[in-house]
Amino acid sequence: MELIHKPVLVKETLSFLNPCPGQVFIDGTVGDGGHAMEILALIGPAGKLFAFDRDEKSIERSRSRLQQYAGRVEFVHASFAEMGPVLSRLGMNGRVNGVLLDLGLAWRHYKSNERGFSYDSDEPLDMRLDRSQKLTAAEVVNGWPEDKLIWVFQEYGQENFSTYIAAEICRLRRQNMIRSTRQLTEVVLLAIRNKLGSSKHTPWVGGLHPATKVFQAIRIAVNDELGHLSRGLSSAIDVLGVGGRCAVISFHSLEDRIVKNFFRQESRDCLDPPEQPTCTCGHRARVRILTKKVVSPSSIEQKHNPASRSAKLRVAEKIS
Ligand SMILES: C[S@@+](CC[C@H](N)C(=O)[O-])C[C@H]1O[C@@H](n2cnc3c(N)ncnc32)[C@H](O)[C@@H]1O
Repeated sequence: MELIHKPVLVKETLSFLNPCPGQVFIDGTVGDGGHAMEILALIGPAGKLFAFDRDEKSIERSRSRLQQYAGRVEFVHASFAEMGPVLSRLGMNGRVNGVLLDLGLAWRHYKSNERGFSYDSDEPLDMRLDRSQKLTAAEVVNGWPEDKLIWVFQEYGQENFSTYIAAEICRLRRQNMIRSTRQLTEVVLLAIRNKLGSSKHTPWVGGLHPATKVFQAIRIAVNDELGHLSRGLSSAIDVLGVGGRCAVISFHSLEDRIVKNFFRQESRDCLDPPEQPTCTCGHRARVRILTKKVVSPSSIEQKHNPASRSAKLRVAEKIS
């Protein structure tokens, strides 16, 4: 059976973005096209949607799912971090009414893929969203120095056993390359078991498999997800017209913190320290935050779509 990604927070996102007939929208993470389909229906035949995705497969799938809207959608195989130059080439900078970024991966990435995103299967260690990129998970695991691996596991995975796991990886890779998700999972379990002095049991914390955080951390590093997010947010504000809105759905605290801080910073008139009597930075507010409190999925949505549980929506409107 084909797995279609279930879009999250659809009603809430649309109520903030408020797409209207004839408007121009960007879906920075089109995935399987669930949000895009709703936006396209609302902007109607005179509207235009630019649909970005780093994963060529997502572009292929959404192109086929959105066939009925062909002509109104322009697909762009690129990161949303590139939306500034892309829209500028098309003469659309400053003319966009809304941008949506629905971060992370689609279900298919975890469930039916050969890119090694999940500890649950035995696949080559790849984890690239964009397969034209050079850096793979195998290169990170087998090539990065131990201190860099510790940093990645701590910063991007908030993994408590970072030093032990990195040490075990480095010990084992001296004997043989770690090539598959199964091998990586076994190394993580072994490192934690050795540290805890337990012969077989490795604790699951908060319902998470013990390798979850290491997999998340490596994926974030391979795809430089946080760097792309920071650049994408900035580009989104650049391409919007005044009154245009940017909605971001994030799935973990590292992303949400970047979105929250970015919107906060861009909603302030001066970024100098508060004790400084006059402004020397010249920074002017570019947005107004519309979600004073972060928006989470309703209990009904969480029940019907458990993958939505960690979703958080923040929205800002361009004011100048
Ligand atoms: C959660 S899914 C989006 C689901 C989509 N809203 C839907 O309704 O089907 C995230 C998608 O974003 C893509 N992606 C992740 N980071 C990206 C980036 N920096 N630029 C463009 N696409 C990205 C992934 O390849 C994936 O297809």
